[in-house]
Amino acid sequence: MLQPLSVTPGFDLWPGLLDLEAQTALVAAILEAAEAAPFAQYETPQGKAMSAAMTAFGPLGWVSDRAGYRYADRHPGTDRPWPAMPRALLDLWARLGDPETPPDSCLVNLYRDDARMGLHQDRDEADPRFPVLSVSLGDTAVFRIGGTRRKDPTRSLKLSSGDVCRLSGPARLAFHGVDRILPGSSSLVPGGGRINLTLRRAR
Ligand code: SIN
Ligand code: FE2
Repeated sequence: MLQPLSVTPGFDLWPGLLDLEAQTALVAAILEAAEAAPFAQYETPQGKAMSAAMTAFGPLGWVSDRAGYRYADRHPGTDRPWPAMPRALLDLWARLGDPETPPDSCLVNLYRDDARMGLHQDRDEADPRFPVLSVSLGDTAVFRIGGTRRKDPTRSLKLSSGDVCRLSGPARLAFHGVDRILPGSSSLVPGGGRINLTLRRAR
């Protein structure tokens, strides 16, 4: 199998793993899903609107409002189940995530020009022994990753369209975020911007 770059222990990167055809097919699947499960800018529990808009694929989606963060089996706007996970994502997880247990959630983050995501840990999943697998589409992101304590030193790297990365083992609970995107660095996403997919085993 293609060897990833080990950026930090447990944080692996496969630059350009998805070719343009695969990227285009995923964007089409995302836009179709977004018709049934529209992108929404959730509120943090503190009442601030997040700058990235979100939707999800699969049995569970991640939602946030004044009541807190959680996985939910329905889209909060439509009260309908989330769209099915595209086959290509199930296959990617089987190769790089976990060969035995399928993902039960794929979060879809849409970053328009000035969207970002503050440094955080992904810790709403029941079992951190499962990795988080991330796919970047569209504009390049300036991504930041540190250690398991907020104060740990961080490093930043660019994630470009087609890149796949994985947080597992010692990096599974690493703080990470998106400082900014580089608008106009890709024309993949209609209307511009970046879409990030994260495959997870939430329950
Ligand atoms: C996330 O941490 O949920 C998203 C990371 C990214 O957009 O690359
Ligand atoms: Fe995250």
